[in-house]
Amino acid sequence: MTRVFSGVKPTGHLTLGNYLGAMRQWVTVDQHRSDALFCVVDLHALTVDHDPARVRRLSRQAASLLLAAGLDPGLCTVFVQSHVDEHARLSYLLECVATDGEMRRMIQYKEKAARERVRGGSVRLSLLTYPVLMAADILAYGADEVPVGDDQAQHVELARDLAVRFNQRYGHTFVVPRATLPGVAARVMNLQEPASKMGKSDDVGPGIVYLLDEPDVVRKKVMRAVTDSGREVVYDREARPGLANLLEILAACAGGEPAELAGGYDSYGALKKDTAEAVVEVLRPLRERHKELCADPGYVEGVLREGARKARAMARPTVDAAYRAIGLLPPV
Ligand code: TYM
Repeated sequence: MTRVFSGVKPTGHLTLGNYLGAMRQWVTVDQHRSDALFCVVDLHALTVDHDPARVRRLSRQAASLLLAAGLDPGLCTVFVQSHVDEHARLSYLLECVATDGEMRRMIQYKEKAARERVRGGSVRLSLLTYPVLMAADILAYGADEVPVGDDQAQHVELARDLAVRFNQRYGHTFVVPRATLPGVAARVMNLQEPASKMGKSDDVGPGIVYLLDEPDVVRKKVMRAVTDSGREVVYDREARPGLANLLEILAACAGGEPAELAGGYDSYGALKKDTAEAVVEVLRPLRERHKELCADPGYVEGVLREGARKARAMARPTVDAAYRAIGLLPPV
């Protein structure tokens, strides 16, 4: 059976981008047709300036949102990265296979490191090695497929390269994974800055729809989305990025193709109204279920405990095999 692995990082409140770009695919497709693991990757949240209490809070919230979105622990494994030591164990071995040049070429590293420097802060070494830990997340489980949004495709490509390199040097140990991207909304853009991705740790709040936003807040954010000058509703990512973003969000939430949907509108206002309602409807059940889960923290904890137990058992043999293959003595 196909093995699927993916994760979400608790660095901020989860967004519509996380949902349409990744989580929805996990819920509707991946958990039903594959042996799937979904992880709150909390170690990754330590790569930038962080507040320990906030990371804890956001990790719990992310786990609860994964379940609220429809991940079913009867079908898949849901767990927290730091509860399974194998991720960190394998990451070190992969650091011995990766090069610093490869790390410095990663787009997200370049962008985030530049942002940190502009703020006058220092760049944590873990930000540079982050993609290696991500490769470890994937390779430890022998994942064939990694369902992600477009911004993570380069990191999955690195995981492929490291798997192939390790296998060539030390003998076949890892499955070579591949990224799978959603058909629409693989890159949901910030509603206020359509040239930038809608990212959960960004500062431009009004351009970001959070999964737990109240319906009226969602409506306001969508209605105030920056569109482009012009009147005609057409789907053109290059020339009309703001409009294209709304059409993609509408297509992802209500069905249809962005270019065809464009033909049905003669004003921006009507498009925004329908998009806002479509988003509100998609998020409604998720918010309601999340409220129920908040009232039952013991349930979420139980899911994570069982998830970590299953994940450990799955990762251990592969990581142990990698330790032997690379030349480390078995424990005596
Ligand atoms: P993260 O937490 O930034 O995002 C989680 C998932 O949501 C997708 N995504 C988006 N998709 C479309 N439009 C957007 N605006 C948008 N924003 C986020 C991301 O592509 C991702 O699929 N490094 C990863 C987490 C990770 C991981 C892994 C993923 C760590 N280890 C192993 C897969 C496999 C990250 O920061 O995702």
